[in-house]
Amino acid sequence: MQLVNTINDLRQIVKQWKIDGLEIGFVPTMGYLHEGHQSLIKRAVSENDRVVVSIFVNPMQFGPNEDLDSYPRDLDCDIDICKQESVDLIFHPQVSEMYFNDFSTLVDMSGLTDVLCGKSRPNHFRGVCTVVNKLFNIVDADRAYFGQKDAQQLAIIKRMVRDLNIDIEIIGCPIVREEDGLAKSSRNTYLNEKERQAALILNRSLMIGQKLLSDGERNAEKIINAISENINREPLAKIDYVDVVDSLSLKKANNISSSCLVAVAVFIGKTRLIDNFIFEI
Ligand code: PAF
Repeated sequence: MQLVNTINDLRQIVKQWKIDGLEIGFVPTMGYLHEGHQSLIKRAVSENDRVVVSIFVNPMQFGPNEDLDSYPRDLDCDIDICKQESVDLIFHPQVSEMYFNDFSTLVDMSGLTDVLCGKSRPNHFRGVCTVVNKLFNIVDADRAYFGQKDAQQLAIIKRMVRDLNIDIEIIGCPIVREEDGLAKSSRNTYLNEKERQAALILNRSLMIGQKLLSDGERNAEKIINAISENINREPLAKIDYVDVVDSLSLKKANNISSSCLVAVAVFIGKTRLIDNFIFEI
């Protein structure tokens, strides 16, 4: 496995792979890899001749009061996981390699980025779209793999690829959970023991919504209320949002008639966690 820090070095390697007719899978990450990332990597390895994993904590997608500085990092452990999963190349650039001092081109999107997490994280998705676009241009992969846990990010990237005619297939992969149901996330490491227990409220509350939908409820307000009421029973939890939206357009679903995304963002103490499920109709 090769560890590459510069865009030029990466391009030379990829160029040779292309000459050799090899298909390339790409897993963009911010590192601190867990089983959720591993599931993306496994899928990429099974579907491609070569797999690139990028590890880059992208400053542009963090707000001024967010956790850029404290975001967990452990490159040695990430390297071990990538080796174990037969990754061919890790791309680990410095911030200065990715952004010139006078960097001034942004990839912005309206609509899909203004709802759900976009409401409380203004400019977050502009940062995500810009860096993912750059990474797609740098790696020139055939397929890229993203987790369904970041459902809004996945929908936005699919839309960006469609709108900007980027020649890459976007593959969404299922949420990976701890045994007790908590969705895997690098940010789970911020939780102390009490908060870790309290964090179970996200998945448990979503399951109430899932049961209502399975039983035939189609009124989004009722589903939102049932989920919110259950989350509010947990003293350490503070709701950022609970919402039901169309799974492709992310537009508010009032009477649910097509496949919908039921998504929550909840502060457990100071840690903001997200979770969701898609209900297919
Ligand atoms: O999901 C993430 O880890 C990041 O948003 C991504 C896609 C790697 C862009 O920085």
